[in-house]
Amino acid sequence: MPLPTHDYHHIKITRKQKKVSGIAGVFSSEAGNWEGNMNHQTVVLSTTSDFSGWRAWSRKLLHDRIPADSIRWIIEPPATLYASSATRVLPSAPSTTSIPRSLATLFPAVFVSEAPERFHLLYLTLQTLRDGAAVPEELTDELKTLAAQSRNRALDLRCQMPDAGNQDWQIVRTSHTAALIDNQASALANLRPSPWVVTAPDRTLCWNGKEYRFGPGLDKDVSDPAGIIIAARSIATAGAGNAWWDGIAPLRLHPGIDDIASSPSLPSLRGKAVDCQMCDLCGPATRTVSGEGNPDARVMFVGEQPGDHEDLQGRPFVGPAGQLFDRALKEAGGNRAEAWITNAVKHFKFVAKGSRRIHQKPNTGEITACAPWLAAERKILAPKVTVMLGVTGASAVLGRQVTVSRERSRHIPMEDGSIGLVTVHPSYLLRLPDEESKTREYTKFVTDLRMAISALAG
Ligand code: URA
Repeated sequence: MPLPTHDYHHIKITRKQKKVSGIAGVFSSEAGNWEGNMNHQTVVLSTTSDFSGWRAWSRKLLHDRIPADSIRWIIEPPATLYASSATRVLPSAPSTTSIPRSLATLFPAVFVSEAPERFHLLYLTLQTLRDGAAVPEELTDELKTLAAQSRNRALDLRCQMPDAGNQDWQIVRTSHTAALIDNQASALANLRPSPWVVTAPDRTLCWNGKEYRFGPGLDKDVSDPAGIIIAARSIATAGAGNAWWDGIAPLRLHPGIDDIASSPSLPSLRGKAVDCQMCDLCGPATRTVSGEGNPDARVMFVGEQPGDHEDLQGRPFVGPAGQLFDRALKEAGGNRAEAWITNAVKHFKFVAKGSRRIHQKPNTGEITACAPWLAAERKILAPKVTVMLGVTGASAVLGRQVTVSRERSRHIPMEDGSIGLVTVHPSYLLRLPDEESKTREYTKFVTDLRMAISALAG
């Protein structure tokens, strides 16, 4: 469930006049504006991840022509972890600046960078644009460098999140910053809808499957997994209405074809796929459902696309077709835990009928848009045997139209020297109208799977 990102009401502004020497101007949260010497201002942000709040204050400061060099941005954690959005006072000022898209996309990434001067650099960029000047190349380059560092760190954090194959609570120990962890919370919950705790020196983030809880780093003496989970479950609830968490601008990776092809590992592929927008299916679907299984698997199974259950659980083949597949694989002498299971298309395509979501076949454009993910997955895993379940999986892997009845049940030599095998999709078996054909076709399916497994031995 993505965090709300629409609310503007939560940079906490407090009196810091004594604390920061040489700074004469101080913003006051009560008044919603500033006092003192108009040329020197201190803005105290309560959290490092509050992009909307920073933006609201920047708009006001720009509108009042406060120069970047006279603003000091500091962060002071809030006294309480829950503050209602309704209690926050933020200025409203008209937006005076239009930001070119090439720069606008850098803002959320620069905002979560580790550079102490990040707020200043972003404000300086806005100030330059407001004045109608060209943003100097050095400044643009610096923003790009910081944004690239943030993207790498976001991907690194995502790679640390276990997939949902094991649905028990998982603990992720990381040294990443609170700003990055906050910012990536919704991507992490998308990657793994089952419960987890991220524990870092200055942030604890807990996802129980429904809501986020967040707080400072845990005491050092809380180190055993059970203690971490108990402590993490008792910290403040974050979510709609908590001022400190309403204004995050999530850093998305928006991977292109080159990013996909150059992925060095399956976790990095999965971390990037969270943000895939290569076709329109990403809009209605809940999440990207990447492949899962044993990263050293020698056999890969390729289905069509996630269904309703898969879309909700974030795992391939866990609904009725998946259960039938698991049973048949076991009967054939295989073991799901040793295999890699994936789909040709990584988003659920459906039409809504009342409360039900009815599966729709992906079209050629959608299969083609998703092809780079499957190609990269196969290149990294390099399976000895690829089993194609149904026409969509087979056409996606072989890169041509396939008639399953004509090509099934035989070893197909693949270009890379590995072996392919086409068989039916398990949902075909579920759709058969009578018990007799169900039994007959199921037996043929198990025979095909056995044939694939026997190819591993050769
Ligand atoms: N059908 C598929 O092709 N894939 C799944 O993951 C589930 C159902």
